[in-house]
Amino acid sequence: MCLMKFTIYNYRIFIIVLITMELDNIIKERRTVRKFTKHIVSDEEINTIIDAALWAPSWANTQTWEFIIVRDKDQITRITEAYSNTNSARECSLNASALIMACAKTRISGCKNGLQRTKLSSWYMFDLGLAVQNLLLKAHEIGLGTVVVGAMDHEKVKKMLKLPVNYEVVVAIPIGKAAPGGTREAKRKDLKGATHLDFFKNPY
Ligand SMILES: Cc1cc2nc3c(=O)[nH]c(=O)nc-3n(C[C@H](O)[C@H](O)[C@H](O)COP(=O)(O)O)c2cc1C
Repeated sequence: MCLMKFTIYNYRIFIIVLITMELDNIIKERRTVRKFTKHIVSDEEINTIIDAALWAPSWANTQTWEFIIVRDKDQITRITEAYSNTNSARECSLNASALIMACAKTRISGCKNGLQRTKLSSWYMFDLGLAVQNLLLKAHEIGLGTVVVGAMDHEKVKKMLKLPVNYEVVVAIPIGKAAPGGTREAKRKDLKGATHLDFFKNPY
């Protein structure tokens, strides 16, 4: 009996270690992809990754996010043309089989009666960021690459998407299978460079 309990305990630890390792790999191995293969991303794949986004936390569970899946080639072209001129994601966006447009309803997250409750505003941006990160990680887990595109003419794209006034489009996410040479190294701050003890600039 005692041996059985011990074995079950060890088994649980093994599973926890395994899950932790997998999550760690998914987080650290995801890289922005700016070159896709000809693979056409399926609706099933899109549904899987959007579902992951929907499980993100949000202010008072307001879930103000809306995702518009753009498949139409002309619409993809129009949206891409509204990116900043030198945007590195232009080419892959034009060639993508789908763009996921991450949008949000404004004046709800972090608000009471339409007014911001804190000094900081636009909490929908924060909520959407969490949802988009879930989406990026899930995409990576199922073998798809993504690039978040924020540098665009948001007003133009908002019109193209026919968003009502109280919504904003925040980022476009072209998605596809990574082609060779589609990723770049992106260095990170180390723990020491990003942490402080008790107050700012006191080494942790
Ligand atoms: C909010 C946001 C906006 C971004 N906008 C663009 C963009 O307009 N064009 C682009 O090529 N990459 C864009 N990126 C991708 C970043 O450049 C990339 O995430 C960063 O260099 C780190 O690289 P990594 O994702 O490979 O770790 C954006 C990323 C974020 C989070």
